[in-house]
Amino acid sequence: MSATLITGIGELVTNDPARAEQGGLLGLVHDAAVVVEGGRISWVGPAAEAPAADVHVDAGGRAVIPGFVDSHSHLVFAGDRSGEFEARMIGEPYSAGGIRTTVAATRAASDEQLTSHVARLVDEMRAQGTTTVEIKSGYGLSVHDEARSLAVARQFTDETTFLGAHVVPSGTIPEDYVDLVTGPMLAAAAPHARWIDVFCEDGAFDVDQARTILAAGSDNGLRGRLHANQLTYGGGVRLACELGLVAVDHCTFLSDLDVESLSDSGTIATLLPGVEFSTRQPYPDARRLLDAGVRVALASDCNPGSCFTSSMALCIALAVREMRMSPAEALHAATATGAAALGRDDVGVLAPGKTADLVLLDAPSHVHLAYRPGVPLVTGVWQAGRPVVA
Ligand code: NIG
Ligand code: FE
Repeated sequence: MSATLITGIGELVTNDPARAEQGGLLGLVHDAAVVVEGGRISWVGPAAEAPAADVHVDAGGRAVIPGFVDSHSHLVFAGDRSGEFEARMIGEPYSAGGIRTTVAATRAASDEQLTSHVARLVDEMRAQGTTTVEIKSGYGLSVHDEARSLAVARQFTDETTFLGAHVVPSGTIPEDYVDLVTGPMLAAAAPHARWIDVFCEDGAFDVDQARTILAAGSDNGLRGRLHANQLTYGGGVRLACELGLVAVDHCTFLSDLDVESLSDSGTIATLLPGVEFSTRQPYPDARRLLDAGVRVALASDCNPGSCFTSSMALCIALAVREMRMSPAEALHAATATGAAALGRDDVGVLAPGKTADLVLLDAPSHVHLAYRPGVPLVTGVWQAGRPVVA
């Protein structure tokens, strides 16, 4: 097995808690080197102490970070809603009802069209440093279209999420739809999915419906996650905490009780600032959550309605500039805590034994991700040790 030595790393972000004493939250190592072998990291440390290897890569003093872990995306869809975005930018409010427009286009698309569209978006993400992505269904909303959406998603990631409970499709009685989601649709979706999600919000599914749907998913071997408190205050975040879900996503409108429940339960709050950027909603209060001891992840929520960005760097820049996260907190949230939000400890951290998902930045430090918003700083990506962007 040949080993690759990446040396000349001006700043290495390891996220390794064992390096926190000297390297802070990000476990920084300066003038560092990494050895990659068989898809995994086999050595990390000061370049001066690096072991010999067959292949050498010189990072030229630039920064290396773990690949981004985007724990929330909706990539399986067809159609275009730029007109809806344009209307919003001149005064229309965001409405979850727009989901139905995408459902019609997705149902009309062939499997090949859906697959090539997801491939294009996953490539776009990878080129920007995302090496692990969760992908949801949720634009099919029929037994056939949800199952095929997940079959498409599964070609690109192990982190697939059944979101049949996105909205109630037009012309369907809500109670009947919950029966469908928890019955035949779940049976068809479960073989292709690891997770189950519910959009718990006024105009989508209420707390009791969400509880029923998550319980049915759990009975079928799917772990739960939740869209909650995106557009209004409500009981979704508290339900996620009560059920001990690994993560609850959006968390824009939170009461003191919600914040307390998050810090008591250890459920990760996944914030999606691209949504607030693209809908002109107020940003979630990341500082309040962090100061209360809540674990915070950042993800893109890449979808055609509320936020059509695939850029984790943009999310980091927004989190720093608009949500008062430090650059270190934001990067940690987009990597190690994103991994934790998927129940993963093999990615998001650069330490011996972990998957060799690394990103080379054309910058001397991770701070540039927020300092230089909109600039494509990702100049090299290794996925499981393989160079995929050079
Ligand atoms: O996460 N909130 C629900 N679902 C997506 C938006 C879907 C859409 O508008 O198409 C979200 O924001
Ligand atoms: Fe979402």
